[in-house]
Amino acid sequence: MRVRRMPIIYNEQEKTITLHTRNTSYQMKIGPCDLLLHTYYGPKAQGDMSWCLSFRDRGFSGNPYDAKLLRGISADTLPMEYPCEGSGDFRAPAFSMRRANGAVGCDLRYVSCEIKPGKYALDGLPTVYADGEEAETLEVTLADEAAGVRVLLQYGVFPSLDVITRAARIENCGEGSILLQAAASASLDFVSGDWDLMHFYGRHAGERAVGRTAIEQRELLIGSRRGTSSHQQSPFVILADRETTELHGPCVGMSLLYSGSFSCNASRDQFGTTRAVMGIQSEHFDYPLEPGEAFQTPELALVYSGEGLARLSQRFHRMVSQHVCRGPWKNRRRPVLLNNWEATDMDFTGERILNIAKTAAELGVEMLVLDDGWFGARNDDNAGLGDWTVNTEKLGCTMGELADKIRSMGMKFGLWIEPEMVNEDSDRYREHPDWALCIPGKAPVMGRNQLVLDFSRPEVVDAIFEQITQVLDECRADYVKMDMNRSITDVYSAVWPGQSQGKILYQYVLGVYRFMDMLLERYPDLLLEGCSGGGGRFDVGMLHYCQQIWCSDNTDAIDRVRIQYGTSFGFPLRTMGAHVSAVPNGDTRRKTPLHTRAVVAMAGTFGYELDLNLISDEEKKQVPAQIETFKKYWNLLHNGLFYRLTDVMQNRQEAAWMMVEEDGSEALVNIVVLDSTGNSPNRFVRCMGLTPGASYKDEESGMVYDANALMAQGLPMPMVQHPRRPVKVTPNEYDAFQIHLVRI
Ligand code: GLA
Repeated sequence: MRVRRMPIIYNEQEKTITLHTRNTSYQMKIGPCDLLLHTYYGPKAQGDMSWCLSFRDRGFSGNPYDAKLLRGISADTLPMEYPCEGSGDFRAPAFSMRRANGAVGCDLRYVSCEIKPGKYALDGLPTVYADGEEAETLEVTLADEAAGVRVLLQYGVFPSLDVITRAARIENCGEGSILLQAAASASLDFVSGDWDLMHFYGRHAGERAVGRTAIEQRELLIGSRRGTSSHQQSPFVILADRETTELHGPCVGMSLLYSGSFSCNASRDQFGTTRAVMGIQSEHFDYPLEPGEAFQTPELALVYSGEGLARLSQRFHRMVSQHVCRGPWKNRRRPVLLNNWEATDMDFTGERILNIAKTAAELGVEMLVLDDGWFGARNDDNAGLGDWTVNTEKLGCTMGELADKIRSMGMKFGLWIEPEMVNEDSDRYREHPDWALCIPGKAPVMGRNQLVLDFSRPEVVDAIFEQITQVLDECRADYVKMDMNRSITDVYSAVWPGQSQGKILYQYVLGVYRFMDMLLERYPDLLLEGCSGGGGRFDVGMLHYCQQIWCSDNTDAIDRVRIQYGTSFGFPLRTMGAHVSAVPNGDTRRKTPLHTRAVVAMAGTFGYELDLNLISDEEKKQVPAQIETFKKYWNLLHNGLFYRLTDVMQNRQEAAWMMVEEDGSEALVNIVVLDSTGNSPNRFVRCMGLTPGASYKDEESGMVYDANALMAQGLPMPMVQHPRRPVKVTPNEYDAFQIHLVRI
């Protein structure tokens, strides 16, 4: 009989707690003086790993009082599970608090642990859920009773996903008030190894470029102070061994399920231990807890891969698509949509929209999305936000009538909203100026000439929800694009005078989550797409509510290749909103072939964002074919194992990626030529993930390839027909190819 190994094992004799997934293990040790130490996170391993601990008396690294003369015991030198300020650990803390008397610091020690079946959930916050998969929860209590604080470390273990989640719940169990100054979701210490920090940085219209920096003896800090997870840094990082590549080497991914300000601090200490602390942003956090009150950190998901970055990404992709995203759209093919934004901006009438919709429907588009400009006095971006009443004059009809007309063309109907915002020039603001975040006596910072509504106040959320849902009820929207178009400043809430920025911003994020939860509850079939000036709030937290997120306002196919490449490290393709838009591109003025734009958009949700009446007849013929191609491959595109074949940050010649059916039976190789040169050298793209020893047939050309050879030598770059002579030549700049390989 096969004995099933439990995912979580508490060994009382060894004083170890070990978490096992199918391929990885994670271990902590209740050390001397009840310090909770971290001994291991890596490939599956058994036994007590505390041989990695080094108890040496080190100068200027102090000792717990109760260690007495054992000077080798120091929170400053040992790997700590949840390091706190005040324990003598001078490295970056996960936890810090101020007592009522102003003194900073506490000393958390192990109290107890409990193993529970299933996966814990967090009230009002997004989490990875089990949904039928095996999962177990571990709760470890740490406390400093004298300081009046208890910390519950929460762990979720998903054996078959190779995912471990962490979160912490902080409780004031004393008699005085305390102020939380830092409360990270998790900290990881690695006693050995040369690690790089990979982070995903950028700007509006240029999100998630890949940065890779050696972690040395100085602190690397990335994060967001913007109130949202931001375009500038993603709340997803990877610690990669210096030698790690796509297919080889150890790496650990940390993905925060939170859509507000965050930080990640990575550093190497004086004795070679690498620490990464990640969670909610601690700057100006100052979260007050009265006796009996508690604070819940957001959740952080961890994945270890010993076989390179591709495997790490694949594990996150599976986690996000199957255990974070919810609802009926989770595994359904999404309708191919057309969004009018890049076609019309706010300058449209109902007639123009119907005209765009008609051609789109004829060419096979399945849903029309009406973007910004349909409500209040919204004819440019200076007015109207906050007034969610339909501008029937502009539409020439009600929203219900417009939706009916679109539906009569055989399409679904979707609508854009930006619930968290208000313009000063709106009835909403004139009536409730105190609903906007604003500091008394200070002129607020404006962003896109709009202010942020105080979503930390439930009555504000409820009022906006009520008005928006009247419109959604009326048009029975199949889809909603929920936007958020500025960073948050002037954090002062009229109903919480004296409250800290940290608390208001945290409650704000909970308000946004509640708004989306209410939407999904009211419209169970709704397809919700997140957006924040493109990909400014692209995080796994949002994906608990939105099945997809508009990846970037930059729709240039060549720029998008880079943006989607960076995004793919932590997020599945099916979550990346991607559309074919017009050329020359509005942002870059670049002209790329329609086919290339479609190949790139198919590495995302796939849709259109242009007036299809304005393309040539030749191009009009391509659109139905593209939609058919997407339908044919969508399962492979959205569920296949994803491999990045080229490093788009380094290789400026071509970008290539592929999806392989989980059983290896078929694959789709995608290549975009980024640059061309005269009399060019021969180029090959090395495939990945095919069944070793098998043969694959290129469905279109009939050519048969050996999988080993494709993975070692590479697939030759396809040739194209010369425009005048009967010869094949190397492709042009910006050409793109999709090669469907079927195992024979
Ligand atoms: C943001 C979005 C765009 C569009 C506009 C409308 O910039 O990212 O896609 O919806 O707002 O104002």
